[in-house]
Amino acid sequence: MLELIHVNASYHSAPVVQGVSMRVETGETVALIGPNGAGKSTLLGAISGTVPQRHGQVLLDGVDLMPLYSHDIVALGVVQVPEGRHVFAPMTVQDNLLLGSVALKDRQRSLQDRFDAVYALFPRLAERRLQLAGTLSGGEQQMVAIGRAMMSKPKVLLLDEPFLGLAPKVVEEIRQALNTLRGEGLTLILVEQKLDIALPFTRRTHVMIKGQLVLVENSTDLMNSPDLGQLYFRLSQPASV
Ligand SMILES: Nc1ncnc2c1ncn2[C@@H]1O[C@H](COP(=O)(O)OP(=O)(O)O)[C@@H](O)[C@H]1O
Ligand SMILES: [Mg+2]
Repeated sequence: MLELIHVNASYHSAPVVQGVSMRVETGETVALIGPNGAGKSTLLGAISGTVPQRHGQVLLDGVDLMPLYSHDIVALGVVQVPEGRHVFAPMTVQDNLLLGSVALKDRQRSLQDRFDAVYALFPRLAERRLQLAGTLSGGEQQMVAIGRAMMSKPKVLLLDEPFLGLAPKVVEEIRQALNTLRGEGLTLILVEQKLDIALPFTRRTHVMIKGQLVLVENSTDLMNSPDLGQLYFRLSQPASV
């Protein structure tokens, strides 16, 4: 289980994420939605240790990740797939994936298994393993970003708008891959701006506005809620923290 207790996070002195507490059960898929600038990416960064100032507690099965460096957090099983993918363009698919394996336990023995698992998940990457990542389509680069995260055999995947800018067919392909992963017991936190993607895919939805969690609701209930139109409206307003 991943439990956040009163998490604050910021880059400089101005607070961004303010007092966020949430629980995600092992194997659960939850959504984190909210307008642009609400602090969704910053909250993921607070969990993965990549935001400079963070306070509170982030407990993974009772172990507090807050005092740890990001590479130690990866080694414990929490991996972020960053917004905008950030693949290394001049490197091959295979080498991009290899970079994701540095924190892999028992690396010598497990490495081939991890490659096999990622290539089984995304057969397109297997075909293109020697292609430079910069020459891949946006969807294929997203597959590399997710595949790279999977190379360290994580327990929790933090996905920051993985479907952004992708064609419906590729969105479906990636959604199916994520479905496979959660079928294997992976815990997923999905940041997503589009309710029609976030709600059907997740069990619970967290709504963040101006750095704070304002609503946590069962995704199916939210989909059927008469307040959904109101929520759409709130999410369409840019929220500078
Ligand atoms: N690297 C950064 N340095 C300084 N401020 C940042 C940085 N990244 C984001 N912010 C600020 O933090 C706030 C929340 O941003 P972000 O977490 O990216 O929101 P979201 O992911 O919900 O769109 C915004 O006001 C944004 O300008
Ligand atoms: Mg963001």
